[in-house]
Amino acid sequence: MLQIPHIPVMLNEVKSVFETVKEGYLIDCTIGYGGHTHALLTQNGSLHAIGCDRDEEAVEFSKKRLEEFGNRVTIEHKNFSGIISKYERLPIRGILADIGVSSLQLDSLQRGFGFESSKLDMRMDKTQNLSAHEVINKYPKNELERIFRDYGELREYKKIAKLICDTREKSPIKDAKTLADLVGRRGRLNGRSISPATLVFQAVRIEVNRELEELEELLESIRQSRINDCIVCIISFHSLEDRIVKQTFKSWARSCICPPSILRCECGNNRSLGEIITKKALEPTVEEIKANPRSRSSKLRAFHIKRDLHE
Ligand SMILES: C[S@@+](CC[C@H](N)C(=O)[O-])C[C@H]1O[C@@H](n2cnc3c(N)ncnc32)[C@H](O)[C@@H]1O
Repeated sequence: MLQIPHIPVMLNEVKSVFETVKEGYLIDCTIGYGGHTHALLTQNGSLHAIGCDRDEEAVEFSKKRLEEFGNRVTIEHKNFSGIISKYERLPIRGILADIGVSSLQLDSLQRGFGFESSKLDMRMDKTQNLSAHEVINKYPKNELERIFRDYGELREYKKIAKLICDTREKSPIKDAKTLADLVGRRGRLNGRSISPATLVFQAVRIEVNRELEELEELLESIRQSRINDCIVCIISFHSLEDRIVKQTFKSWARSCICPPSILRCECGNNRSLGEIITKKALEPTVEEIKANPRSRSSKLRAFHIKRDLHE
């Protein structure tokens, strides 16, 4: 029996978003431990799935977990920014991206995502070079300020960057535990009950894994593809990602893409890619948050691509 190390978030909501899909392929951009894909392939016996993950451990695990579906599933080790162009010629009817950190990544003391970790790593893909160790010990002060300001939204970004630079001058900051103790694990920050360590870790993780760029590239690759009659569902875990998804879906829905300075429409007013399914982001229920506190910051947005390919 496989021990499943991750609880999929908003599973019922994901199932209902893809309920109208009859057949064809689902691309699960973040296959993780196979939870969402397992449920969707069970729900719909005519569906095929292509899954990818940048974490090799997740890929190996989900290959085993989804073995029962035989050739209905293909899984590969890949960043999701490159997955659409590879498979866009197939009849893709669903695209799912659940872009959080998996419980296995968070809980493993070897991976450097959690405060108690004995490493300073945070690479989702262990084959890449840049790790949290390099960011914390080698990045110049102004680069640290940039990531703490832009990705951590820390008001005290200058102070924290200086503290790290002064400390590492004496000796390198070797593990996650030392970093968390240094910047502070407790307290309210920017009016929220969230510790500086949480936001510093978030900022470093986003930098190490190019999380925002990956998301933007995925969305752009979907826009540029010829994929049609397809439901795109993105689950994000912090406001920076959710903002990107919200604004992108809004721009996809717009039928006029002329710049605001133009008085009369010149684009034909028929450039909409389809329609937003979730007018407001869906959030987990109180019961789900109780059962799985890690789901608490998740937000789900979905879009139905219905483009006129004869344009
Ligand atoms: C929250 S988990 C997904 C869990 C999955 N939905 C399940 O039900 O088991 C997020 C996964 O996304 C992967 N991931 C994050 N960014 C990625 C990217 N740019 N390309 C590929 N995989 C990515 C992580 O390695 C992690 O395994």
